[in-house]
Amino acid sequence: MSIENKKTLAVYDKTAHLYLASSIEHDNLDPVKASRKRKKLESLIKSSFACLPSGSKIFEIGSADGANSKFIESLGFNVTSSDIADDFINATKSKGLHTIKFNVLEDDFPEKYSGVFCWRVLVHFTKEDALTLIQKVYDALEDNGILLFNVINRDTKNTDEEWVDFEGEYHMGVERYYSYFRKEELDSMIDKVGFKIHDFFKQGGDNNDKWLIYVLRK
Ligand SMILES: C[S@@+](CC[C@H](N)C(=O)[O-])C[C@H]1O[C@@H](n2cnc3c(N)ncnc32)[C@H](O)[C@@H]1O
Repeated sequence: MSIENKKTLAVYDKTAHLYLASSIEHDNLDPVKASRKRKKLESLIKSSFACLPSGSKIFEIGSADGANSKFIESLGFNVTSSDIADDFINATKSKGLHTIKFNVLEDDFPEKYSGVFCWRVLVHFTKEDALTLIQKVYDALEDNGILLFNVINRDTKNTDEEWVDFEGEYHMGVERYYSYFRKEELDSMIDKVGFKIHDFFKQGGDNNDKWLIYVLRK
């Protein structure tokens, strides 16, 4: 586990309550845009896991407020939410979600899953951390299992990595580590681990290419 991720987790541990409050404030600034983004994400989640039978076990890494886990549960899946910061864990538990404290870079998955969802988490991972995550998820998935995740596209940034506290959006008063990925880097990690790319999209930002989104199949 990198020092960058470790330090960023220490920030979340202290400021998760601010993250939760600012994401609500951020959505309230432009409810129409927030609702459009929400619908787009839900449609992506639904289609990515559509090949899994109802009742399949899906694990979310870094669930934060649990909104995505709750949506996955509403599709008829058996969901386990997870995060590191106690305020996040309490937020998902208060939504009635089965939740565990889980650091994907240090802890073992408690069991095998048919699907893993990991949204906006690799933004805080070095390249080495990312490879560790992809390998660990591969090992924790049943055959034909699905991993849905995203990273920020390096082509839309002018640096490989940086420490930032974004103004306005998710402003927490403390910098967190952000890392940006090129498609070729991810493709090579995916290939090395043995996943097959089931689907791939670019989405978000002014040119619809801010995020690289992968749906992988074991
Ligand atoms: C930008 S937030 C995204 C939260 C949520 N997935 C969403 O899209 O709203 C990043 C999340 O990654 C989690 N995270 C970062 N490093 C992690 C690690 N090593 N293990 C588990 N979760 C981690 C943080 O605790 C935080 O919940």
